[in-house]
Amino acid sequence: MDNPAGRRFRSREWFADPQRSDMTALYLERFMNYGLTPEELRSGRPIIGIAQTGSDLSPCNRIHLDLARRVRDGIRDAGGIPMEFPVHPIFENCRRPTAALDRNLAYLGLVETLYGYPIDAVVLTTGCDKTTPAGIMAASTVDIPAIVLSGGPMLDGWHDGELVGSGTVIWRSRRLLAAGEIDEDEFLQRACNSAPSAGHCNTMGTASTMNAVAEALGLSLPGCAAIPAPYRERGQMAYETGRRIVAMAYDDLRPSRILSRESFLNALSVVSCAGGSSNAQVHIMAMARHAGVDLRPQDWTDHAYDLPLLLNMQPAGKFLGERFFRAGGVPALMWELQQAGRLHGDCASVTGQTIAQNIEGRETSDREVIRPFAAPLMQKAGFLVLSGNLFDFGIMKTSVISERFRERYLSRPCHEGVFEARAVVFDGADDYHARINDPALDIDEGCILVMRGAGPIGWPGSAEVVNMQPPDALIQRGIQALPTLGDGRQSGTADSPSILNVSPESAVGGGLAWLQNGDVIRIDLNAGRCDALVSADEIARRRRELPAPPVPESRSPWEELYRSHTGQLADGATLDMALKYRRIAEHTPRH
Ligand code: FES
Ligand code: MG
Repeated sequence: MDNPAGRRFRSREWFADPQRSDMTALYLERFMNYGLTPEELRSGRPIIGIAQTGSDLSPCNRIHLDLARRVRDGIRDAGGIPMEFPVHPIFENCRRPTAALDRNLAYLGLVETLYGYPIDAVVLTTGCDKTTPAGIMAASTVDIPAIVLSGGPMLDGWHDGELVGSGTVIWRSRRLLAAGEIDEDEFLQRACNSAPSAGHCNTMGTASTMNAVAEALGLSLPGCAAIPAPYRERGQMAYETGRRIVAMAYDDLRPSRILSRESFLNALSVVSCAGGSSNAQVHIMAMARHAGVDLRPQDWTDHAYDLPLLLNMQPAGKFLGERFFRAGGVPALMWELQQAGRLHGDCASVTGQTIAQNIEGRETSDREVIRPFAAPLMQKAGFLVLSGNLFDFGIMKTSVISERFRERYLSRPCHEGVFEARAVVFDGADDYHARINDPALDIDEGCILVMRGAGPIGWPGSAEVVNMQPPDALIQRGIQALPTLGDGRQSGTADSPSILNVSPESAVGGGLAWLQNGDVIRIDLNAGRCDALVSADEIARRRRELPAPPVPESRSPWEELYRSHTGQLADGATLDMALKYRRIAEHTPRH
């Protein structure tokens, strides 16, 4: 079948140059060995890339190695030509010094692939945390039609008749281990049981959050994000996604025609009422900046802090991915937002219809999992942006602050939402592990644990180490959590009350660099302030005498390149020089 719509795709520049038939022949000679015939390549039909993020090194996305076959079927049935290619692996739990380094590396690689090869549109396979933002950032820079296919979460994990969710089980079991309530074997068994199948994390950690974000942005088919990886519906979604991207290629439905400030605000709202990951702050900002959309750090407070927690899913709630899927997934959450007048329903989407049209009639069937606005799990459960004399930006995920913690710190009469704590400062995770149980630190419930040296430059890449556990002795006394603060991040699966992503980081001279053990920090959640109670004169004196912050040497060329171009977490930790490149597919690369 030839190109029915008569549209000329960018791949024609490679395969149909009348001046250079010798070159066309050279391309064909090799491509033909992979099942493409000259008839197909000369038909003028769109070539659809399948950006494959699954591999043995990316086990959370490994399901895509199978799903790609269904995507290919969909593409072929709709009249496109599929071409699958690898994306630089990003495995959250295994990549050292941290997977966050590789979001920008995968982004760069994908930009060059999409730009430099004859690809007319692309299916972005996503799953593990950073594969989603990396793909969307690249699709925006290149600006060819793109659709997101999530691999889906694992099945729910069970242990001793209890739900055990990815990541969250680790943080909770570590506390039980410290309290002497379980042993090492039991700890490992709980961890293994939380991962019963293929798929990404089954909690509302960063992976599920970012796939929900892709759907909220209108970049995947409605309902895509929540389908568990092994379910029948996941394969069907892969097929439909393959079909849809071909139509998008003909309609030239590019990211720049879908993404807007309003669609990003929808994403902030979905993350907030889902109790989603604090890492979403970094990745959403990065995606918005690459899309050229004006999003500000303060938007989290201004547009979504007052939203209630509606989704009952770990770590903020009780259930896991399978129940969320059966309750209706992201469309059902967006439906609640729409009923409350908190959704920009007229935003565009990959379906060619508006978000409002996509979610019509998608009310949840399970009120235990998705609550109505009038009876939420928690009021005012969004993200709060803080600033003060220690930093310009820090963010707090309020949906995971437990009732006990609120009682202890936040509900004193006359000072509701204001508390003071004595700082115990650690220089990186090694320092924390070496000293946390040292009685000389004299840590009690009046302390705040501070982590510095964990930002984009300091680590490098910015590490998920701010959710520090109290010393064992405190846990044995029943103190499960202390407030924490740091210039790194925290796992999206963690349930710690933390001030995160603090920018600027200590490695570039941010205020945490001059903070000392014993300084008192005042946190005022009403005013969005976090200040060390240290006089301006004393701060100036400390700054003058401050030695250069301890920053480990770069150990690879990429670490060095990353450090020379990365921004801070507040701004998405993007590569500064990359932001000026937009819609680059408008120009075909020279031969
Ligand atoms: Fe890969 Fe959670 S570690 S999805
Ligand atoms: Mg993580």
